[in-house]
Amino acid sequence: MSEELIDADIRVARTLPSRFYTEPEQFKRLMSVFSGWQFAVHTSQLEANTIQPLEHIEAISGESMVLIRSEQTKCVSNVCTHRGMRLELEACTKKTLQCRYHGRTFNLDGTFRHMPEFEQAIGFPSESDDLKKFPLKQWMGMYFTAQEEMPDLPWAMLEQRLGFLKAEMFIHDESRDRDHSVEANWLLYVDNFLEGFHIPHVHPELNQTLDYSGYITETFDGGVLQIGKAMEGDVKFNLPAGHPDEGQDIAAYYLWLFPNMMFNFYPWGLSVNVVIPVTHNQCRILYRGYVGDSALASQGAGSVLDTVEHQDQWVIEEVQKGMASKAYDRGRYSPTREQGVHHFHRMLNEKFNC
Ligand code: FES
Ligand SMILES: [Fe+2]
Repeated sequence: MSEELIDADIRVARTLPSRFYTEPEQFKRLMSVFSGWQFAVHTSQLEANTIQPLEHIEAISGESMVLIRSEQTKCVSNVCTHRGMRLELEACTKKTLQCRYHGRTFNLDGTFRHMPEFEQAIGFPSESDDLKKFPLKQWMGMYFTAQEEMPDLPWAMLEQRLGFLKAEMFIHDESRDRDHSVEANWLLYVDNFLEGFHIPHVHPELNQTLDYSGYITETFDGGVLQIGKAMEGDVKFNLPAGHPDEGQDIAAYYLWLFPNMMFNFYPWGLSVNVVIPVTHNQCRILYRGYVGDSALASQGAGSVLDTVEHQDQWVIEEVQKGMASKAYDRGRYSPTREQGVHHFHRMLNEKFNC
């Protein structure tokens, strides 16, 4: 892509060319975006266990990491510093990490503890025998980690908008978890999430609970926030006095953080979708549900999630097939309804100078 592939002016810009969705080389090229901040777990998932391997992050980027709850919760490499065995394969409550290959042990802070048959090794142990530590950030009860030091996301700005929900008090509800396989490039799943333009056409049930004319899209460095307004009489948030959206009937906040994380806040709680890239024409979607008030789960925009998900997957898989057409390459953006998709494509454009 040249600097100008996605024009900054949405009124003249054209969308990402179809090769980004169809070519394995482009798929590989974009994979470096996954080394930044990634959703790890919600604190309620750490209560039962002290050691939690982050399987979905390994599926996304190939980096095996483990979250350890001790005096200070840490994220460390899940790869033994001896000869590279993966350490913990399941969540557990052990007091040390022990490698199943030759027995090396590590303390819960990731530092080297013991290794048999190494008495004669010179200069051992050294710092390089400790498990590598990764950055870890807690935001509204959710842990995020990254493979390298990253600039902070605008956590405070987002907390000002969403902090009233007290998401740190939510409880993980396994019955809401899903793992979907979709025959489409991960970019298409994100593109589709970033606009409410398709709601009247693709989601008739959701369309009855959202006021399409009041739908708002806000872009910021590192993500997009979409705000769905409730139909009159439907369930909505109780916004506290002084809240930036005070006085509005809001049914849902849809937050996307670059590149693949979606946080859907409803009056009942939070649904997190993490998109896992698999190949240029396949991805997986992990759903995790965290409940604040289960009595509200059957009402409003947050009550038809499985139906909406299947409708989205159907349309995305059809678009993937469309992308293979020689007759199609690029389209245009709606300046009033596709600011989120444009923002995402601009971020890719800037990151890859493409
Ligand atoms: S690889 Fe872990 S002890 Fe050998
Ligand atoms: Fe949708």
